[in-house]
Amino acid sequence: MEKLKIVAIVGSLRKDSYNRQLAATAKKMVNDIAEFELLDYADIPLFNEDIEFPTPKSVKRVREIVKSADGIWFFTPEYNHFFSGVLKNLIDWLSRPISKNEAQVLKGKPAAVSGITPGMSGTGIAQDHLVTLISFLNMNVMNSPRLTIPNALQQINKDNRLELTDSTPYLQKQADAFINFIQSKRF
Ligand SMILES: Cc1cc2nc3c(=O)[nH]c(=O)nc-3n(C[C@H](O)[C@H](O)[C@H](O)COP(=O)(O)O)c2cc1C
Repeated sequence: MEKLKIVAIVGSLRKDSYNRQLAATAKKMVNDIAEFELLDYADIPLFNEDIEFPTPKSVKRVREIVKSADGIWFFTPEYNHFFSGVLKNLIDWLSRPISKNEAQVLKGKPAAVSGITPGMSGTGIAQDHLVTLISFLNMNVMNSPRLTIPNALQQINKDNRLELTDSTPYLQKQADAFINFIQSKRF
């Protein structure tokens, strides 16, 4: 059977981002069933209608990758009880149709939402805002389970690498649920 394709969008550009490391852990969990591509979007410009057409190359590339996905898995940090500006900028670009004949690329895509933070909130408030946005864009959101991991430092080793312990079963549960969710929307 052909593998599903999951595209992971991490809302942090930080090299050692805990959310990026969480995505890398999730990748190992779905490896047998799904191809898992981490979207690299650090090179897209700030959205500005003056530069929307012709579409910048970096935006075209990112759009094509998102278009090819069977599901999008968001890994969001929390900045001031919101998701990050870079993620909003990316979604604003993706929300614009490529041409008059084509729908925007997020429409109908299955979406899962996770996040990790050193603080207590576990990114729950940021996730709520993100879900409002992606629902407005008609993504097919898996509302349950979502994954919020607070107190990240308890699962970070001395080299600042994420080593999930307590949260492992919850991430696995979400990974399995998302695969099933994508498959149920596909057939
Ligand atoms: C501008 C800014 C605002 C932040 N606001 C919050 C917040 O509201 N809640 C929270 O739990 N952590 C907050 N943090 C801490 C982030 O959760 C922390 O920096 C985290 O490591 C960012 O995610 P990353 O590791 O994936 O880059 C904030 C960090 C920054 C830089």
